[in-house]
Amino acid sequence: MNNLLICGGAGYIGSHCLRVLRDTGYNCIVYDNLSEGHRQAVRGFPLEVGELSDTALLADTIRKYQVDSVLHFAAFALVGVSMHKPIEYYQNNIAGTASLLDAMCRTGVKRIVFSSTCATYGENVPVPITEDVPQNPCNPYGESKLAVEKLLQRCDDAYGIKSVALRYFNAAGAMPDGSIGEDHKLETHLIPLVLREALRNEGKLKVFGTDYQTKDGSCVRDYIHVLDLAVAHLQALRYLECGGVTDCFNLGTGVGSSVFELINTAREITGIDIKYRKDDRREGDPATLVAAFDKARNILGWNPEHSNLHTIISDAWAWHKTHPNGFEEELLGKQPPSSTDSDNTYAR
Ligand SMILES: NC(=O)c1ccc[n+]([C@@H]2O[C@H](COP(=O)([O-])OP(=O)(O)OC[C@H]3O[C@@H](n4cnc5c(N)ncnc54)[C@H](O)[C@@H]3O)[C@@H](O)[C@H]2O)c1
Repeated sequence: MNNLLICGGAGYIGSHCLRVLRDTGYNCIVYDNLSEGHRQAVRGFPLEVGELSDTALLADTIRKYQVDSVLHFAAFALVGVSMHKPIEYYQNNIAGTASLLDAMCRTGVKRIVFSSTCATYGENVPVPITEDVPQNPCNPYGESKLAVEKLLQRCDDAYGIKSVALRYFNAAGAMPDGSIGEDHKLETHLIPLVLREALRNEGKLKVFGTDYQTKDGSCVRDYIHVLDLAVAHLQALRYLECGGVTDCFNLGTGVGSSVFELINTAREITGIDIKYRKDDRREGDPATLVAAFDKARNILGWNPEHSNLHTIISDAWAWHKTHPNGFEEELLGKQPPSSTDSDNTYAR
């Protein structure tokens, strides 16, 4: 049996992982409340619509599909919103995960791969960031993820549940064929915002802080292709299936790209002169966040093969230009234009 419960599988990263895991022989069952995820992103996969807090439904779903392992993407994931809604973030991300772990205990499932984040490290961390630097998150989102990492270790000690926490840096990109991609209701990620500006020319794109001690004054981040994240999940799962111990791994590339480099690459790829405005620094935005990923490479055998900026933005563009309103087109029964349609004709 190779049956996986994919909590949060209708979201951005989960829906990409589903396809990679299916193609390597796993049966994937999606569990999602669709608060942020999309039914259209999981067409062809069994979908149970439910809440993380519904332990009984989770346990029933695990039994119904004879689930062997869990991949857990489901969470609220916006740093800024978490500052104003800490209770919701703690409830959904920590209590929700406790409920999932409870369901695993009730049904005897012993393996889980968890979506953690570089936001657990906090500010003023030496770069490249290794897994052993002290974690000191500076927002409720990062705190909630760190709390879950600790809970996972406790669940190993108490119940023998083995886990891998994957600390993603900046997830980006899309399926290269443009079939699925990033579509968050409130988009805060830079690449979708840049490509949206390319499509809509609304003058809304802002660069926050241009006086950092970086190569060009703008913030530097480590962008990781969503397909590389998917492969890491596969490898983490295999690691656990082979008796691997509970552990955590950074998923990044070791290479930082600045905001200006990203905008310039997007201009080249789209052929559109994407405009932006300079704005003040945002509180809590470190100058540079770059991962050391040696541990994932050495233990999981992982290598971020798709994660150069050009590939990431090209693949994201294939999605955005054919789905300028995200999954909405498909919801309304409209066919998105084929990728051979002229960008500008459709976009503007
Ligand atoms: N996107 C990134 O750059 C990034 C970086 C680091 C970590 N992460 C983590 O990766 C995971 C996936 O991120 P994403 O960008 O795909 O987010 P997403 O919002 O697109 O996906 C999360 C999914 O979980 C579902 N969900 C949320 N709360 C739920 C609940 N209580 N019950 C059932 N389903 C619920 C949502 O409907 C959604 O489909 C998250 O845990 C996030 O914290 C993301």
